[in-house]
Formats: sequence, structure tokens, C-alpha cells
Amino acid sequence: MNNFKLNEKISFSGIDIQQKKLGVKINTSIAKVIETNKFIMGPEVSSLEEKLSCYLNTNFSISCANGTDALSLALIALDFRRGDNVIVPSFTFISTAESALILGINPIFVDINSDNYSINYNQLKSVYSESKRKGIKIKGIINVDLFGMPSNYEVLQNFCKNNKLKLITDAAQALGAKYKKEFISNFTDITTTSFFPSKPLGCYGDGGCLFTNSKSIASKLKSLRIHGKGINKYDNISVGMNSRLDTIQATILLEKLRTFSKELKRRKEVAKLYLENITDMVIKPFVDKDSDPIWSQFTIRTKKRDKLKAFLEENKIPTMIYYPIPLHKQKAYKKFRILTNSLENSEDACNQVISIPIHGYISNLEVDKIISYINKFFKNK
Ligand SMILES: Cc1ncc(COP(=O)(O)O)c(C=O)c1O
Repeated sequence: MNNFKLNEKISFSGIDIQQKKLGVKINTSIAKVIETNKFIMGPEVSSLEEKLSCYLNTNFSISCANGTDALSLALIALDFRRGDNVIVPSFTFISTAESALILGINPIFVDINSDNYSINYNQLKSVYSESKRKGIKIKGIINVDLFGMPSNYEVLQNFCKNNKLKLITDAAQALGAKYKKEFISNFTDITTTSFFPSKPLGCYGDGGCLFTNSKSIASKLKSLRIHGKGINKYDNISVGMNSRLDTIQATILLEKLRTFSKELKRRKEVAKLYLENITDMVIKPFVDKDSDPIWSQFTIRTKKRDKLKAFLEENKIPTMIYYPIPLHKQKAYKKFRILTNSLENSEDACNQVISIPIHGYISNLEVDKIISYINKFFKNK
């Protein structure tokens, strides 16, 4: 926790507090890497990958340069080609669709559920049927476990199996989330994540990783991230990318991984307090009995979002809007195929969501303050 005083500004992501706690140890491990000069693919990279596989109970972890590359690498490894179509939710960070578009793969947007922000299954089914009717072949889905909330993998897996679709999960915000007590990376062809600094497991810059249980996919990914290498990087068996995780970032992540479970535990305690004590005048995230979210964000919804944001900020409670514009309305993305008329839940979410502070070091005093100011705002309305 931390020594927060009531009149101080609350930390939104806790990155500053974590830095104070772990900084000295991290600096020592960075110094060790510098001494060895093994900046690229040093032993810390494979050590991190082994530890992540072990933690997630998933056979293979393949690190890379960032979470956006991880998604592009996943698409290439699953044989997506230029002109193929992939279903993506419209309410997510831009990378989910950008990673496809940069490869000439078309995103087909579907709506989300308004309570857990996952792909809306009814719409998924109708968009899929509509595409079939129009002769548009869909090759797979990039599902997103937004804010750390796992999707219903039973439904998703069945749908993909029955229709021979590839399933990728963008778990940039959901590393460690479980569905039916199983890590989400065990339900997909490939799951990706991001180690962007503000993520629950974040490094000191950019970083990412892919997880799979398939040996052949893992070996493709290991080649693709280093220029499509064969025996070595001067032997190129496919067209790949330069997308490795720096050794320095790997050593930072190894240090942070030691406290990761403890931090997730605190996030879960805080989410419980928010769920139980924040007024029902806001819409709180819905967690079904099979879901074990990691709460990378705690996101509530209200039509009075902008006023609530101003009120909280005035009282030194930082907030974030993830995300203000749905992908199908982004200038560069408008022209992509929309097979449904309604992406209403995504549009409403953009107008109503507001994320409040949650992290592994937030104190009960801070949590109480946040709850009481939200409740005060609605009492005065
Ligand atoms: C849902 C989602 N997908 C993808 C990414 C991309 O990750 P990166 O910034 O590491 O490329 C992010 C990062 O913010 C994200 O939140």
C-alpha cells in the first residue's frame, strides 16, 4: 500500500508507487544486463518466457516488441493473408484492428455486450450469417478481453470450432484473467498481451508477448519475430518482422513478475469494494460466476460521465476515458465493412464510460475517498 494523505492526488495506475517499491531491485538487474552487453535475446528473455508459460499453465510464450506487433504476428502465424476478413469488436483500443489492416486484412466490426464489454454473441452470429449470405469469407476473430474481463470462452470456442474460425484473444489488458478457473490463453489458438508501462505487468517502454499451446504455431512465431529466420537471421524462410523484446525489458518484467500475483490480489479486493459500495446509479461491470477478471481497469458508466469526471478531477481523483470513439467511427477506419446496422452498445459505451483508479498499491483510504465522492456526486443530482 502507500502513505496516502487525503488531500493528495490519487495515483491512477500506481506505476509511480510501484517504481518506488521495486525501483532499486530493477535498477540492479538492469545494471547486470548492461554488464553482459547481451541487449538482444539475452538469457533473461527465455527465462521470462518460461516463467510466463509456467504461470499461465500454457505451453509456449513468445515475447515480442509490443502488443500491436503481437497481434500482427498472430495473424501471420495463423495464415491470414491480404484480403482476408477478421471479426473485431468496435469498442477497443485501435491496435486490435490496426494490426490486421497493416497486413491488408479487413476488419469486420461487431458490437459488444454492454455489461462486460466482450463481443456480443448474438451479433457475432448474425454478422457471420450475413457475411456468408453475401459471399464474404471470414477467417477468424480477434476477441478482446477488455479491462481484464474474460469473455465467455465456452460460447466463443464452440462458435469458432463449428465454423472453422481461428480464435485470437487480444489480452493486452487481461494477462492472468481466468474463465472457469482456467487461464484464458488455454481457450484460443493464440492469445496476445502488451507490457506497455501502465499495464498490470508493464515494462519500462514497449513490450509484448504471445501465448499458445501449439508447438508448430510457437515455432512459426519464434521465426517470424526475427525476420522470418530459419537456422539463423541470415537464413530467411518466411517474411517476418523485427519484433523482439529487449533483454533490459525482460529483466524488468522478471522482477515485476515476482509481485504480480500479490498486485492482482489487491486489484481484486479493490474491485470488490467498488462493486459493493459504489451507488447503483452508475452501471458497474457485470462479473458472471465463471469469470475471474484481473481488473486492469475498473470502468463504470453513466450518462453524466463528463460532469462526474470534472467533479472527481476537482477533488484530486484522476479518471480516464477508455475509449471515446468506437473503431468504426475513426476517420481512417470508417470505410471498413460493417455488416450490421447497429453498433449501438459500442457507441453508448464511448459516451458513458469512465475508468477510476485501481492498482496493486491503492490504500483503503483512497478507495473509500473514491467511493464516497462518486456517491456524493449522485446524491446531489
Ligand atoms: C486492448 C489493447 N490491444 C492492444 C494494445 C496494444 O499494445 P501495445 O501498446 O503494446 O502495442 C493495447 C495497449 O494499450 C490494448 O489496450
